[in-house]
Amino acid sequence: MAKWLWSIQGMSKERMMEIRGRNCHPMTMKVTLYKEPVFIHQGHMQWLWDVDGRRYLDLFAGVATISVGHCHPKVTAAAERQLRTLVHTTNIYVYPPIHEYCEKLASNLPDPLKVVYLTNSGSEANDLAMCMARLYTGNFDIITFRGSYHGGSPQTMGLTSLVDYKYPVGIGLGCTNTMCPDVFRGIWGGSHCRDSPVQTTRECNCAQGYCVASQHYIEQLKQTFLTSVWSRIAAFFAEPIQGVGGAVQYPKNFLKEAYKLVRERGGLCIADEVQTGFGRTGSHFWGFQGHDVLPDIVTMAKGIGNGFPMGAVVTTREIADAFAGGFHFNTFGGNPLACSIGSSVIDASRAPLCPQDMLAIFEDIKDMGILIGKGGMYGQTFRIKPPMCITMEDAHFFLSVFNKSIQNYMEKR
Ligand SMILES: Cc1ncc(COP(=O)(O)O)c(C=O)c1O
Repeated sequence: MAKWLWSIQGMSKERMMEIRGRNCHPMTMKVTLYKEPVFIHQGHMQWLWDVDGRRYLDLFAGVATISVGHCHPKVTAAAERQLRTLVHTTNIYVYPPIHEYCEKLASNLPDPLKVVYLTNSGSEANDLAMCMARLYTGNFDIITFRGSYHGGSPQTMGLTSLVDYKYPVGIGLGCTNTMCPDVFRGIWGGSHCRDSPVQTTRECNCAQGYCVASQHYIEQLKQTFLTSVWSRIAAFFAEPIQGVGGAVQYPKNFLKEAYKLVRERGGLCIADEVQTGFGRTGSHFWGFQGHDVLPDIVTMAKGIGNGFPMGAVVTTREIADAFAGGFHFNTFGGNPLACSIGSSVIDASRAPLCPQDMLAIFEDIKDMGILIGKGGMYGQTFRIKPPMCITMEDAHFFLSVFNKSIQNYMEKR
């Protein structure tokens, strides 16, 4: 691991830990991940530096939250611009950033998911989604998967189904959990149940397009309907891929079938996209798209603000209207700073770099001793086509040069 030659001046590690022990809630001691805590000082894109200047490649991203990179220059610029214009007002007034943002966010969701309510966190978003589902359907029961995490507020603690996050207090009335269709560690699952190169070691002989394991797990959901809830339910919450529960991928078509059964019982289907949204799964902008389903409500947070506290509930006009009968207010949800940051996160696009920028990177790579090609309709593609006698060492050398050139480019912007 590369080590930088400097170390920051600031509060010593010992003093930070002393204060953490004395003045911070004991929970902060419990959540410190490693035996020796990691003392973070600074971040840039995928990199973090600790207080001694040691560099880490951050593949956890502040718990799946840094979506486009630590201190991404475009996000930082948007925040700076908004900080100089208007940091805070609430939606009792009309101001451009919230409208620009809501329109932009809605344009990234399919019809009829076009109505946005902004919050400060995922727990808040899920709280609201629970309330909306109950008001809209007139039903109370909500079903989630065992092993799920949907938040730590009193209501969402009921959705969450992990013992470590439970407390012996009266929470989560009306929340029931059902077996998680985990074909990797669960009791059913075979060699091609899920849409992933990683499968369980168990064999199965399912015909193309049919999954026996999925049917077994659907039977479990039906048992839950028969035994644990009223005949009509308010909602079914599921992450498209379970995050805190251990990156659990469900068998193909499970969600499709589950959504059908939930709707037959009057319930709404809610996709918790707090971890999977905003392109995190790679293939799709939203995790639910990978299951070919259309939720009634989508909740989101974390990556939405690239580290700025933000969340959202997006739903249909009819469901939103059912909530509009009362009055709900959120001081910070959708404030101008949050909306400007959120907008800049969505704008981190795949648009090609301009030819001058491509050239600058191209030249830099050559100056560091590597020749590559260029192509594409906009001259946007670096073409790397080495002779096939290339060694692993050469490939590593190229990657470090390429990374360095991108880093140089980002720093100059
Ligand atoms: C899937 C999921 N939903 C909801 C939440 C709660 O979000 P927040 O911590 O912003 O309240 C989390 C947090 O880890 C999460 O992973």
